[in-house]
Amino acid sequence: MRLVEIKEGKARIFIPDPKEYEKNGKFDPSWAPVFYNPRMMFNRDISVIAVSIISPKSIIDALAASGIRGIRYYLESNSPIEEIIFNDKSKVAVDLISKNVEANGVKVAKITNRDANSLLYEVITDYVDIDPFGSPSPFILSSVNAVKNGGYIAYTATDLAPLEGSAKKSCKRKYDVNNSKLSFSKEVGLRVLLSKIVREAAVLEKAVEPIFAFYNDYYYRVIIRVTRGAKRADESIEKLGYFYECEKCGFSGSSKDPIEKCPRCGNKVKISGPVWLGKINDDSFVHKMIDYLQNFSYIKNFEAVSILLHKILQENKYPSGYYNLEFIASKYKINVPAREKIIECLGDASQTHFSSKGIKTSKSFDEILECMKTLSNKV
Ligand SMILES: C[S@@+](CC[C@H](N)C(=O)[O-])C[C@H]1O[C@@H](n2cnc3c(N)ncnc32)[C@H](O)[C@@H]1O
Ligand SMILES: [Zn+2]
Repeated sequence: MRLVEIKEGKARIFIPDPKEYEKNGKFDPSWAPVFYNPRMMFNRDISVIAVSIISPKSIIDALAASGIRGIRYYLESNSPIEEIIFNDKSKVAVDLISKNVEANGVKVAKITNRDANSLLYEVITDYVDIDPFGSPSPFILSSVNAVKNGGYIAYTATDLAPLEGSAKKSCKRKYDVNNSKLSFSKEVGLRVLLSKIVREAAVLEKAVEPIFAFYNDYYYRVIIRVTRGAKRADESIEKLGYFYECEKCGFSGSSKDPIEKCPRCGNKVKISGPVWLGKINDDSFVHKMIDYLQNFSYIKNFEAVSILLHKILQENKYPSGYYNLEFIASKYKINVPAREKIIECLGDASQTHFSSKGIKTSKSFDEILECMKTLSNKV
């Protein structure tokens, strides 16, 4: 395996030379013997900032591949890390991790070549990172088991088709959710993932509090805090419910139990659930992320991270679910007015990081429609 050295954040690591694994001039990171995807740098940048705030003493990078995440946590997070377990079931990956850990002077590293699930049933830690290929579902129970009371877990999910309701059977299998493709599917997906996490944690009588969660590019990333207690777990379960959307009049909303008919026009609705209907971001954590960001002026995605954090802060005050303006406009055969104009017309509304076509508001559907109709007459 030929190696090349790359730089990401403050780390310099070796990865398999992509040129060696190209097929017809194309390259996919999954074709290399050890996985490294530069498109996930944004995910890692955000995670480094979050870990700085969480400040764990012990970390498990359970699916470490090249080791880039754990190495960056050590070099950049400013937290008093006493141990990082870098784990991967692939021997080639583990050998590369050893090389990378040494090259970056990670003094607190312990490297294991295990199945992540069996490892996670044997250790207790402050922070677990689950960054799999596709769905994190196979690692939820074990990661919740591995985290201390009050500890944190970060999950990446790249299987958007089931989560967003395009692959319904797969969603049922992996998340035990009856999903539908709704016009605000980008947010539905994140809430399907959180619903699964909450229900798995409840099995172990643990409660889940989402701290930071977002959608970007082709993945979701969620960071949760886990606390012990059957009663608390029940309270988390209480925040599960259902999304519905009417194909006829475009009305959408959420309910505790599944409903069949549109409360606005009586037509049959599409539903998705159980989904998490509670908060997905903790305001004070997002504020801290914005403050801490100033220490990371060197990261490539500085500007993009700042934009995301500010959008999340704005939209976090509104109820779950966003309104897809194109979807609503199509139902009423009107032009889509500029998003900023609609937000201005509603007064109490914001854009959403989930979609460039979406808005969040606590105003009613009919108020949105009225603004859209008035503005579209002026287009
Ligand atoms: C998407 S990659 C991880 C990427 C890495 N975290 C990063 O930020 O670049 C997933 C890794 O999980 C490893 N893996 C898959 N299933 C595993 C399992 N059951 N136990 C341990 N490692 C596993 C694969 O070998 C692969 O290296
Ligand atoms: Zn309706």
